[in-house]
Amino acid sequence: MSADTDLTGPLGGPAPTSSRAPVGGARPVTPVGIVADLLGSVARQVADVPGVPLEARADLARARAIAAGLEGYVEQQTSPPSAALAALEERTRAEPWEGNLEAEMLSGHVEGAFLQMLVRVSRSRQVLEVGMFTGYAALAMAEALPEGGRVVACELDPGVAALARDCFAASPVGDRVQVEVGPASETLARLAEQGETFDLVFLDADKPGYAGYLDLLLDRGLLHPEGLLCVDNTLLQGEPWSEASSPNGRAVTAFNEQLRDDPRVEQVVVPLRDGVTLARRV
Ligand SMILES: C[S@@+](CC[C@H](N)C(=O)[O-])C[C@H]1O[C@@H](n2cnc3c(N)ncnc32)[C@H](O)[C@@H]1O
Repeated sequence: MSADTDLTGPLGGPAPTSSRAPVGGARPVTPVGIVADLLGSVARQVADVPGVPLEARADLARARAIAAGLEGYVEQQTSPPSAALAALEERTRAEPWEGNLEAEMLSGHVEGAFLQMLVRVSRSRQVLEVGMFTGYAALAMAEALPEGGRVVACELDPGVAALARDCFAASPVGDRVQVEVGPASETLARLAEQGETFDLVFLDADKPGYAGYLDLLLDRGLLHPEGLLCVDNTLLQGEPWSEASSPNGRAVTAFNEQLRDDPRVEQVVVPLRDGVTLARRV
């Protein structure tokens, strides 16, 4: 499987900056996960250093416990995923990923539940996803749609799209997802030509493409005038306010500023997972 993205790390973020063993075996891909990992590293480094005040050690341990436990706690307090979503996630994690695609790209339980909540409260019927991967978010949103609702999901990589289709076939609502394989810019242009319009758009593909997708969505009428735009990874592993060292970090930093200064929309950044921005037309 391959993607023509400029991915230098998970979710298009930077490659890890150290060779430290990640917390829990998986590479941290969210700002709080990275903080927890760094705090763990500091704790190990000072463990045998004499003269570190006990209070400093206790503060460090508490900071680490808060950061390391946050995402697990949020998961525990969030409604559980369906059996089909759990199976899709398990299959994604078991896959021998290589190249630019990796299991950490999967949106997962909490973000999926968040998207389901958006679909339900916005009473969306037509949903567009840009960047489907193995289809977690697409299927999650499909489950929340009313009868007759549809998710159009764009994916560049044909192999990963085939895997997603397999998983959709095992779900009672899998037929609500229409998979469009190819560069999203071409798919969006085609959908616009066909006069398609969407109540909810989830943007989660190549980060340098975000600015172009935003223009297509707003200028070509793909986002309904009353529609909601949800953009993933807008906190890009903390890069926008610490060190935007990767191409994707710089792209997201520029996109965030562009969105903030765009008079066509109003927006709020939600610090869920790797950051989710909600925007609507004003
Ligand atoms: C972060 S993953 C998406 C995760 C997915 N939304 C989920 O819920 O698990 C990004 C996906 O965008 C795809 N992608 C990258 N560039 C693309 C492009 N130009 N057009 C369409 N898809 C693209 C990648 O192949 C990858 O599968």
